[in-house]
This record gives sequence, C-alpha cells and structure tokens, in this order.
Amino acid sequence: MSPTANWSYPTAIRFGAGRIAEIGEACRAAGMSKPLLVTDRGLKDMEITRRTLDLMETAGLGSALFADVDPNPNDGNVEEGLRVYREGGFDGVIAFGGGSGLDLAKTLAFMAGQTRPLWDFEDIGDWWTRADPAGIHPIVAVPTTAGTGSEVGRASVITNSATHEKKIIFHPKMLPSVVICDPELTVGMPKFITAGTGLDAFAHCVEAFSSPHYHPMSQGIALEGMRLVIDNLPRAYADGTDLEARANMMSAAAMGATAFQKGLGAIHALSHPIGAHHHTHHGTTNAVCMPAVLAFNAPTIRDRFDRAAGYLGIEGGFDGFCAFVDTFNDSFGIPKTLSGLGVTDADIDRLVADALRDPSTGGNPVEMTEENTRALFDAIL
Ligand SMILES: [Fe+2]
Repeated sequence: MSPTANWSYPTAIRFGAGRIAEIGEACRAAGMSKPLLVTDRGLKDMEITRRTLDLMETAGLGSALFADVDPNPNDGNVEEGLRVYREGGFDGVIAFGGGSGLDLAKTLAFMAGQTRPLWDFEDIGDWWTRADPAGIHPIVAVPTTAGTGSEVGRASVITNSATHEKKIIFHPKMLPSVVICDPELTVGMPKFITAGTGLDAFAHCVEAFSSPHYHPMSQGIALEGMRLVIDNLPRAYADGTDLEARANMMSAAAMGATAFQKGLGAIHALSHPIGAHHHTHHGTTNAVCMPAVLAFNAPTIRDRFDRAAGYLGIEGGFDGFCAFVDTFNDSFGIPKTLSGLGVTDADIDRLVADALRDPSTGGNPVEMTEENTRALFDAIL
C-alpha cells in the first residue's frame, strides 16, 4: 500500500498516489486562475505532463506550458521564461519536474514582479531583502523525481552562463505554497535517474546530519531520511513500479531538503562546480564525492554516525557506515572517480576556487582550505 496524507510542514503538502488529480484545487488554494506550467525539455512531451495540462484545462485554468529549460537551468532560461510569463499575463507558476524544472519555475515566480536583475538576489548575506515581496507570484510545486526536494525549498540553483558558476537565488517566499507529492509521477523514471536523484536525497540527509550547526529538528529529519533511502532506494531501483518504495523516496527527498536548512557541506561544495563546468548529473556527482568527504570529515562526525548506524541497520558504527556507502554506490553502478562520469580534463585550480566560494562550504564540519579542498578533488579525480 502506498501512503496518503496531508501535511502542513514545512508547507502544505498533498501526499499520495493519484493526487495530481487535485492540481486544479491546489492552484485555486494558492490563489491562481491563470498558471503557467514550467518544466524541462525532457518532460515536455511525456504522458504525465500532457495529463497534467489536461487536468488544468478541465479545471478552467488553461494549459499553458513553458519547457525551454536546460538540465542545469541558466540565466538565459530565466530571461526567456520571464518574457513568456509576463507577455502571457500569468498569475502563478506550476513548478513541474525534477530539480531543473522546479528551480527554474520557482525563479520565474520570484522574479515575476521584480525590477532588479537576477544576480542581485544571490544568496549572500541579506541580499534577499532587496526583493519586493509583493512582486513574488504563487507557486504550486509538483516533483516528478525523488531527490532534489526543491518542492519544499526556499532557493533555486541557477547557472551563470558567463562564468559557468552555479548560483543560489534565495527568498523565504520562494517556498511553494502548495505541493503535490504524487509518487505515481515518478514510476516512469529510468534507473539511472532513480539512482542519481535518490542519492542526491541521501547526500542532503548525510550532509545535514554532519553539519555542525545547532538544529535538532533537522538532525532528526536527516536521520530518518537516511533510513528511508537505505531501505527504499534499492527497491525503487529494482522495480520502478513499487509505489510504496517510490512514495518513501518522495518523502526522503522532501525530508533531505527540509533538513539541509541546517547546512550542506563538502559533497555539494565539490559537486556544484563539477556540474557547472562538466554538466555531470548532480546526484550522481554527489555519490562519487561522498566516500572521500566522509573520510575527510571523519574526526568530527565519527561519534554521531556511531550512534546513527544502529538505527540505520548498519553494523560497525561510522566505519561500517563508510563501508556501506561504498557498497550502496556499487549497487547502483556509481563510478569510483569522476573520470567514470567522463570528466577527464578538469581544471583543478578553477574547481578549487569555485568550491571554496560555494555557500555549501560553510556547512562542512571540517573547515575547507585551498590545500585540503585540492586534496579532496585529487581523491575523486
Ligand atoms: Fe543536492
């Protein structure tokens, strides 16, 4: 049996198989009468997208679609999307898809009524207060993967196409006001994406759990999120139609993104520049980075993983957990090094510089320096 529930934490979530049928009500609850559905090119012609557009049409909301979104969405996608959104006179966004579609959609809703340029709202200090909150349009989020958790996040990752850097755009009102988590939408995901996105959720939980900041709520969510991935990702990978496993992965994804308000760390600090320069899959890149980062952080996280391992069903405390991660990665065909992802001509100086500027760096339990970050890149290359 696949679970069904309504949650109001961290936002209103309609969780359960088949609940995409509620898209009309969800849009009305968010205050929209003319939404633009935003997704990526890969999803544009898929059955789940066509069906959602039909449901919108039936609910009297039209069936407008914007799908010119790259796998790592960039400022050009934002510019084009904003032109379509403003010319069409839309009053809200349905953020539909994996991380790329969700992040681009959230950015369009955020930018809809802003007059300042996008990069003025990068997640630096209190730059988010530069935004006019009245100019932020409502968002209904519908994830079709189980990994990014962007449906419950208050930020988007957008690539600056001039510098090839991934930038975080943040505002509290970028949190979607209504989310539909329908695990049936994830059933058609290919194995490679099921594994990569699921391991992104796992990395969010592991990094949030490892982060030194004080946030006991996030700590608990991260621990249960890790357990859900460990118990359910192998099932969803083996049988994509296992709805219970798909549902638990969808929960784990939302939990990972809720938990990482506590902080991310070196896995994401390394993965962001690698993805920005080499266009590797985000979650898969995280998985390649995880063993080296666990070893790097060992002195500071050993105790907490010694405690967690028993709950996760892993013998041997922290060392057992590290051995488990190696086996877990192997079971999904994750390469041991970045060359296995096709990264052969990496400019390490550039990657190190970008990693040290990445906002995730501040959440790592061991302080990242130029020297130790270079050693980390050496270990995974
Ligand atoms: Fe991530």
